Amino acid sequence: MIFYKPGDHKEAGFKHDPFKAFISPRPIGWIGSMDGQGRTNLAPYSFFNAMSSNPPVVVFGSGSQPDGSKKDSQRNVEETGEFTVNIVAHALKDEMNETSAALAHGEDEMQHAGLEGAPSNLIKPLRVAKAPISMECEYLQTVEIECWAKPQRNFVIFGRVIGIHVSEEVIVDGIAKAEKWQPVSRLGYFDYATVTETFEMFRPKTAPGPT
Ligand SMILES: Cc1cc2nc3c(=O)[nH]c(=O)nc-3n(C[C@H](O)[C@H](O)[C@H](O)COP(=O)(O)O)c2cc1C
Repeated sequence: MIFYKPGDHKEAGFKHDPFKAFISPRPIGWIGSMDGQGRTNLAPYSFFNAMSSNPPVVVFGSGSQPDGSKKDSQRNVEETGEFTVNIVAHALKDEMNETSAALAHGEDEMQHAGLEGAPSNLIKPLRVAKAPISMECEYLQTVEIECWAKPQRNFVIFGRVIGIHVSEEVIVDGIAKAEKWQPVSRLGYFDYATVTETFEMFRPKTAPGPT
């Protein structure tokens, strides 16, 4: 067994920091936002997850630009208080990757990736029209986490889901079936995985059914 402290991965024999490879697969939150001037922004975040379901709360973790300034998604969400989370189906993986391009503030990655936006019902930011699932979110709060690579900064952005769009095509008999949209997740390095197969397992001493 190898033991190392964060930061000492090279001494432990790793070519690159393997930390993100260990926390995998990570779902990808494809964050749609708008700045105060109504300009659309879209970017993938794999430091992303649901933190509670009642009410549904999601988080995404944002690093900063090399000079410590905030990335556009965080800037917009904090400025306008709204964002969409779009789920990346396997069929959208290349477009998702394209939207991670570092475009200037105010430039639209949705358009850049050849994607169509669709209006949200309750908020201004667009959702990705072809995403199998999109969530409309209101901003709750930001927590800053100490960054060891100063002047860069790390943040976690919290949002409450207030509306959900789901394609009828991914619902089978009242159940949303992941195999239908085949969610793309991030592993370590430049590796990704797609869910193509699932299995069921029930918790001991609890009623069967999703929790
Ligand atoms: C699959 C994938 C996952 C990513 N996850 C993150 C992440 O969790 N946090 C982060 O700061 N950047 C992440 N990035 C990089 C951002 O997408 C990239 O910096 C993007 O330009 C940010 O866009 P924005 O400034 O419009 O928000 C990821 C990129 C890809 C391709």
